[in-house]
Amino acid sequence: MNDRTKLPARSIDPDDIGHNTSANPTFESILAARLSRRTFMLGSASSGAMAIFGGVSLTALAGCDSDDAVAATPTANLLGFKAVPKSLADVVSVPEGYSYSVICALGDPLRAATAAYKNDGTDDDYENRFGDHHDGMEYFGLSATGAPDSSSNDRALIGMNHEATTNNEYSSFFLHANGGTNTLPRPTAELDKEMAIHGIAVFEVKKTAGKFGYVQNSNLNFRIHQNTPVEIHGPARGNALLVTQYSPTAQMTRGTLNNCGTGRTPWGTLLTGEENWAGYYTRAITDNAVRNDKSVTSLNRYGRLQGAASRHGWEGDKTDATRDSKYRRWEISQTGASAADDYRNELNCVGYIVEIDPYDKTKTARKRTAMGRFAHEAAAFSTPTVGKPLAVYQGDDARTEYIYKWVSSQNWSAADATASDRLAVGDKYLDDGKLYVAKFNADGTGNWIDLAFTNPAIAGYATYPFADQADVCVNSRLAGDAVGATKMDRPEWSAVNPANGEIYFTLTNNTNRVATASVTTDADTTKHKLTADAANPRVYTDVKGTTSTSTGNVNGHIVRIKETNSDVTATTFTWDVYLFGAESTAGSAINLSNLTADQDFSSPDGLVFSPSTGICWIQTDDGAYTDVTNCMMLAALPGQVGDGGAITVSGTNMTTYRGKLPTADTLKRFLVGPSACEITGVCESPDGKAMFINIQHPGESTKTADVTDPTKYTSKWPSNAGYGAGQRPRSATIVITKNDGSKIGY
Ligand code: FEO
Ligand code: CA
Ligand code: CA
Repeated sequence: MNDRTKLPARSIDPDDIGHNTSANPTFESILAARLSRRTFMLGSASSGAMAIFGGVSLTALAGCDSDDAVAATPTANLLGFKAVPKSLADVVSVPEGYSYSVICALGDPLRAATAAYKNDGTDDDYENRFGDHHDGMEYFGLSATGAPDSSSNDRALIGMNHEATTNNEYSSFFLHANGGTNTLPRPTAELDKEMAIHGIAVFEVKKTAGKFGYVQNSNLNFRIHQNTPVEIHGPARGNALLVTQYSPTAQMTRGTLNNCGTGRTPWGTLLTGEENWAGYYTRAITDNAVRNDKSVTSLNRYGRLQGAASRHGWEGDKTDATRDSKYRRWEISQTGASAADDYRNELNCVGYIVEIDPYDKTKTARKRTAMGRFAHEAAAFSTPTVGKPLAVYQGDDARTEYIYKWVSSQNWSAADATASDRLAVGDKYLDDGKLYVAKFNADGTGNWIDLAFTNPAIAGYATYPFADQADVCVNSRLAGDAVGATKMDRPEWSAVNPANGEIYFTLTNNTNRVATASVTTDADTTKHKLTADAANPRVYTDVKGTTSTSTGNVNGHIVRIKETNSDVTATTFTWDVYLFGAESTAGSAINLSNLTADQDFSSPDGLVFSPSTGICWIQTDDGAYTDVTNCMMLAALPGQVGDGGAITVSGTNMTTYRGKLPTADTLKRFLVGPSACEITGVCESPDGKAMFINIQHPGESTKTADVTDPTKYTSKWPSNAGYGAGQRPRSATIVITKNDGSKIGY
């Protein structure tokens, strides 16, 4: 049995696990030439026409110099606040002159009839409460009458991910009175609670007396949890790979799982990325021989080796073949006469971008299979241009996974920004198009490689014989292997700079980046190690505390891409590394961006550009620098690709391309969270004066056995900040405002 899921929290982060066995190249040779790039002025007045449709900036690039950028938003010249120092305090710290308040937390009721949260492990009715591990979120404005109004600053729906729950054994221990059951099979009453707190919440927020709060009795609130019907869309709809007992026609599935980053479509819907879903499923130790087909290659590539245990034991009592399919679906072994008799294909029904209409809870969410299946993070849209296709940039967060781009077949039409059937607009732009994977070259250029079934490298891939385009969508990691995509240091969120269209990706860390490669034939690819390449150039050792060390790209970096001619359909690009995470006291061989004590960070994850101010917000989910500071959020004013220069990284001897070094005015820490949390998710009112962020899993390092002893909790936030009943720590959403009422970050 694979007991990985039962290790103490953060011993192995489920985000980290890599399963890439392909022989794709790393770039150990250093090429001499760096393509010259023209530079441009940033933040100057736009030279192109700009129009606003439904609150979305539509920038007409036509007629601009191909190398010029168009400023689509007003951009701050300086960050106008005093940096927040690093901290281990169990509080949320914001700059002088700013305030925050908690607006909702795990378990708070989402309808009038649901009881207030007692926070003692006895609560129920979780289908009508906020879920756990608040993550990515987006703001959808509402008019006074409750209609979509993307300019509204005082009333909105927020669409928010509930990614996961806090566990260090099977049980989500804070949800159960005495910590729950950690032997299998677990009681179904515990499983039902845990399945209900994963998924999505859409909830109304409204200003009362100038202050935002959530509206418990709003009839616009709704939840999507693990038993909510969801439709399969795109090439894989109806395909044999998605046939299950629940949906023999392969058109439906249930729920959306481990939702991390988000995207806001130009037509006003929520996109949510399914990230670390594989670990929730169990597979029998004998399943490979029973299957005896290419599905074994796919399952291994996506991290479900035979014999794998599930994270929470949601499969219930495996000896009871008559139990409800809401439990049986988490056991994905081949057991029945056909795929319609079991859940052998259930894993193929998860791992997608899912589109949700936040304004209409009667609409069934749609999984957009054309955009690929992997550990999705954010879905960052290019700035829409009328008459041009839309691009969506996406990362696959596991060690040595890839970066992807979706390009719609249809050109953007301004009328679609305000269409009433929003999911039909989604069908138009997200079901039909091309999926590309990124290859980063050592000379600072890159290629987007089309993952088309007609690509000979894919059609003839011996490791996994693809059947059709649906197979490519379902097994996009294998398609990326086939075309030689670049293995990255855990691509997390993506974000598009509204000032110039450049695309940023956080690469959070990679402890499997090493000095000497060792790719073995072991099916457990977590053991596979890769050397540095130009885009993932660092390998070093960090000491945590006094004794614990880790090696690799310990602190992560942020890579950025400029499409050739600023064209979202380009198949070539240039890139550089905007920032390298590091401790400010680390030597110059590690702290390549010269971060000061007001700027240093580790494991960048959440990444969002403010549409209002153009500020780039960087959030951390760290386990390396947490001996010195809790996780944090920084504000940044980046320049553009190529504004620094080539450097050689000592240790690996890699040549890479570093962004212009930050100054005290262009990068500083804005917030530090409470103990053992992650900072994640950003959205704001269109005027930039109210910012919502999430504090995920405070107190995550608490031990299951200590659940009834608050003195042993590693965090008591937010109860220690005066919010809610009980002392059990809770994931929560906060709203930040500036005391003088002006824009955040200026
Ligand atoms: Fe949910 Fe990879 O962060
Ligand atoms: Ca350290
Ligand atoms: Ca994250």
